[in-house]
Parts: sequence; structure tokens; C-alpha cells
Amino acid sequence: MAHEITVPRRASREEAYASLLPQLAALMEDEPDLIANLANFAAALHQAFAFHWVGFYRMVDGELVLGPFQGPVACTRISLDRGVCGAAARERRTILVPDVEQFPGHIACSALSRSEIVVPLVLGDQVPLVLDVDSEHRDYFSATDERYLGQVVALIRARHFA
Ligand code: SME
Repeated sequence: MAHEITVPRRASREEAYASLLPQLAALMEDEPDLIANLANFAAALHQAFAFHWVGFYRMVDGELVLGPFQGPVACTRISLDRGVCGAAARERRTILVPDVEQFPGHIACSALSRSEIVVPLVLGDQVPLVLDVDSEHRDYFSATDERYLGQVVALIRARHFA
């Protein structure tokens, strides 16, 4: 069956997220494989928002390993003591970085990244994966992104880690 993501033209970012969320839930409905669903989520977010980079890092043997993504090639492994991704996983909370040059330890996978948000999937004291989104613009992400990207991760949690 063909799947297509559509968001209303000229939608605000909030409207776009609100339209996207049920489509993401529907995309996962018939597919039990985590990687397949992460791959489609990365594609859908990239298509809807034209983010510079959007993707997942999975926790494998105590470090974050690159998972499905859309955008330029990226670092394959991030230890928990490094980067925005490592901090979000270690602290088990969403980290929004308005200016990556001001974040000590930021890992510049792409020289074009200027701001970033990382949302961990928290399961008790475990973080099996994080969602990372990068923008070429400073100050690109807001509480709206934090809220809705949190809901995106909650969908994955409910489907695969409940
Ligand atoms: N900038 C991230 C690394 C991952 S890439 O942005 C895709 C970080 O500091 O953790």
C-alpha cells in the first residue's frame, strides 16, 4: 500500500505537527519492526519540515549508535559523555540548544548545523534511543518543537517499548 505524508500548505509549525502526528501513528500501525518505523519517521519529519538533519541514535552496549536518518552523513557513534545527544541520554531529558557554538561538547557532525534539539525516549532509567533534529539556523527550535517531538517519541515508545 502506498503511504504519503501530507501537511497543509502554509501551515504553521504547530499545525504541521498536529497534522503529522496521526499520520505517523497510522504509518506504524501495520509494521512491527522498530527500524522500519524509525526510518519512515525520519523521512516524514524531513519531508514535513525540511530539517537539515533528523534521525535517531540507538543505545547499543552503552553508547549511541547512528540509526535511521535523513540528511548529510553523520557520526556513527556518540559516547554518553559527549555531545547534545550524550547529554540528553545521560540526563534523560530533552535538550534544546539555540546556538550549538555555545554548547560545550557539541559534536559538529555537519559544519552547517547551528541549532539542535534532542529528545530521549525514556523508559524508567533506560534510554533506548534519542531523536535528534538539527537546523542550519540559529534559534530554530522552540517549546512547540519540544512538545510535539516529545509526542513523536511517545508514539514510538507506545508502539515498541510499552
Ligand atoms: N550534534 C550532535 C551529534 C549528532 S549530529 O548532529 C547528527 C551532538 O552534539 O550530540
